[in-house]
Amino acid sequence: MNEKVKLTPEQIAARDPSESFQDLLDLETVQVPAALRDSTDTYLGSDDLSVDRYICRDFFDLEVERVWRKTWQMACRESRLGKPGDYVVYDIVNDSILLTRTDSGELKGYYNSCLHRGRALKRGAGHSDNIRCPYHGWTWRLDGRFDSAPCQWDFPHVDPEQNTLPEVRVDTWGGWVFINMDEHAPTLVSYMEVLPQHMNQWKHESRYVALHVEKVIACNWKVALEAFIESYHAIATHPQLMSFQAIDNSQYDIWGDNVSRTITAYGVPNPSHAKQFSEQDTMDAMMKLAGSEDRPEVLPSQTARETLAKLTLPSVNEASGEDFSDRATMSELMDSTLYLLFPNFAPWAGHGNVISYRHRPNGDDVDSAIMDIYILARYPEGTEPPEDANTFRLGVDEPFSDAADVMGAGLANVFNQDGANLPQVQKGLKASKKGAVTLANYQEVRIRHFNQTLDKYLNT
Ligand code: FES
Ligand SMILES: [Fe+2]
Repeated sequence: MNEKVKLTPEQIAARDPSESFQDLLDLETVQVPAALRDSTDTYLGSDDLSVDRYICRDFFDLEVERVWRKTWQMACRESRLGKPGDYVVYDIVNDSILLTRTDSGELKGYYNSCLHRGRALKRGAGHSDNIRCPYHGWTWRLDGRFDSAPCQWDFPHVDPEQNTLPEVRVDTWGGWVFINMDEHAPTLVSYMEVLPQHMNQWKHESRYVALHVEKVIACNWKVALEAFIESYHAIATHPQLMSFQAIDNSQYDIWGDNVSRTITAYGVPNPSHAKQFSEQDTMDAMMKLAGSEDRPEVLPSQTARETLAKLTLPSVNEASGEDFSDRATMSELMDSTLYLLFPNFAPWAGHGNVISYRHRPNGDDVDSAIMDIYILARYPEGTEPPEDANTFRLGVDEPFSDAADVMGAGLANVFNQDGANLPQVQKGLKASKKGAVTLANYQEVRIRHFNQTLDKYLNT
């Protein structure tokens, strides 16, 4: 395992010399949160990674045993389990977890398997006052205690007191529900390391689901995940972003084993493209991506970043019922600041609408993944949250543009560009003569970190 080493001054200086993300923070006019000032500059080595990690059955099977059955995973939003009897099934490879809320308000997770002859007890999500197996009707109470079965006289050998549904651990953070099948795992809060301390200020718990798209992608789950923990690919894959995203100067951080982060500044052109764009070009491109017809003028005394922050602030204040005028940085109003909690949860930071991702295998298929995209919007604390959006499902052959009506055409186009790469990555990995992938030392350090953590679990 590589030691974590700070980048050398030469490595840092070799990055694009124009404004870094930390330089942009110097231009803020309100106090900058310590979480944004934190910058880890870590070097984790330069070795190639074997393609076997992404294409081999044995590697995948080991991940099931040592990662998916051992780690905290985001299962759903807590709002899906608002009332006693609400349930959600979280499937991960061949494991299936039935989440529900009991009459006393407690969240519970059960192995979704009947104790009679094994039928899955529930599928999808819904509401029911008890847990009744559809096959022969064995029934449990919401708290997992056995209730009754038809012709119970025929089961004198089944002790109702002992016939309780086996549980998995359940915990919550930020309005998200997490499960862990390992009784001996650390608590969720310690597993999350620095993440709650950083992110609690951005209040994922005071949000509702404004968008949820779930898409099947023909690639290994890590191929999908890794495409969203580096911004380096944007130069070639998303050329339309160059006028307003400082891709080359994205900041990449890692903490402990389980948490990492990218911050990519908005409202600033990519340093290597900066000469091509005026401040007005930057503003116009951002408005276009947001699906707006408006093209607000950038005054000579202002930058596009400042203008967009001013334009965004009133809607953020209104949505949250808070006044951010003297305390929201431009960064928190517009930048893409995305964390990862190993292995499957990527929450974004900020005061406005935030994205969050989840990536996981699609069943036990090495070559297929499910990606969830959530957009969370604020609502004022103490008020009733709006209804969560329904899940919009896209099959393996349905591009993100099929969800353009709910996502907006600009965002759907960005995800289409990513979605076009991913099956081709899987194909190319299988065709690789080199047998390995090569990573950038800095811009792809989160991929290296993620894989080093994966190895820690696999080697346990
Ligand atoms: S399998 Fe569930 S009641 Fe028979
Ligand atoms: Fe992308």
